[in-house]
Amino acid sequence: MPNRHQDGSAGDADYGAIGTNYARYRRPDPAIAAVIATALGGARSVLNVGAGAGSYEPLDRQVTAVEPSASMRGQRPTALAVAIDATAEALPFPDDSFDASMASFTVHQWQDLRAGLAEMRRVTRGPALVLTCDPLALDRFWLNDYAPQAIAVEARRYPAIDAIGDGLGGVIEVVCVPIPLHCTDGFSEAYYGRPERLLDPGARLANSAWSFLDPSVGEAFVKRLSHDLETGEWDKRHGHLRTQPSFAGSLRLIVSRP
Ligand SMILES: C[S@@+](CC[C@H](N)C(=O)[O-])C[C@H]1O[C@@H](n2cnc3c(N)ncnc32)[C@H](O)[C@@H]1O
Repeated sequence: MPNRHQDGSAGDADYGAIGTNYARYRRPDPAIAAVIATALGGARSVLNVGAGAGSYEPLDRQVTAVEPSASMRGQRPTALAVAIDATAEALPFPDDSFDASMASFTVHQWQDLRAGLAEMRRVTRGPALVLTCDPLALDRFWLNDYAPQAIAVEARRYPAIDAIGDGLGGVIEVVCVPIPLHCTDGFSEAYYGRPERLLDPGARLANSAWSFLDPSVGEAFVKRLSHDLETGEWDKRHGHLRTQPSFAGSLRLIVSRP
């Protein structure tokens, strides 16, 4: 059984401390949701593990959500199912309970990745989906020039794509998910063409990586990025990204079919 923080958070991040504004900055992006919908295929019943505030939960299927953090459960819109307080590592369902299962932006936080993935597979009859970032592709993002510490933290946390495929088992498909320019889900790379947004402390805190860094890293990042935006240095090097329709970054959808 994973250790739990005071609000129930069961991963490496404490959403009781950092999660209050999560739903404001992390709204599901329609283009990413469409990739997930395609992979869910004809599934009627869907389990969402590490469901948080409900991003990417399909509205046209019967969804069961599992979320250990009370702070995150409290941010779920009333139109969505009330989330069950449980962890990925010990899903409270019999074998083969759901047509499909999904887990978005969460596996890097689990205390026991293998156990959580095996649990997803155990309770799922059809496809099991994991939306995550490839640790080997994180340095494609210009943030690596400005706050390499943030990228390094993420590279240590995100499991290798192969480890996720092995843990889920079955036939594995890995889909590279393009990140749209006006992505509404504020994970770091979502701001690839809108650098000013990352000057907002709330936007940074909606990415748990920053909670593992000394505040001085954030302060130095803001100082340097602000300077380069004012002088035009950022635009000289990366300005083409402001109009680039999508970014092939680290986002991946791993689909396991039995
Ligand atoms: C970055 S949020 C993602 C939430 C949502 N899936 C989304 O895409 O916005 C990560 C979520 O994983 C949850 N989580 C962390 N460790 C977990 C575990 N061991 N079992 C289940 N959920 C976990 C956290 O409580 C948090 O809500």
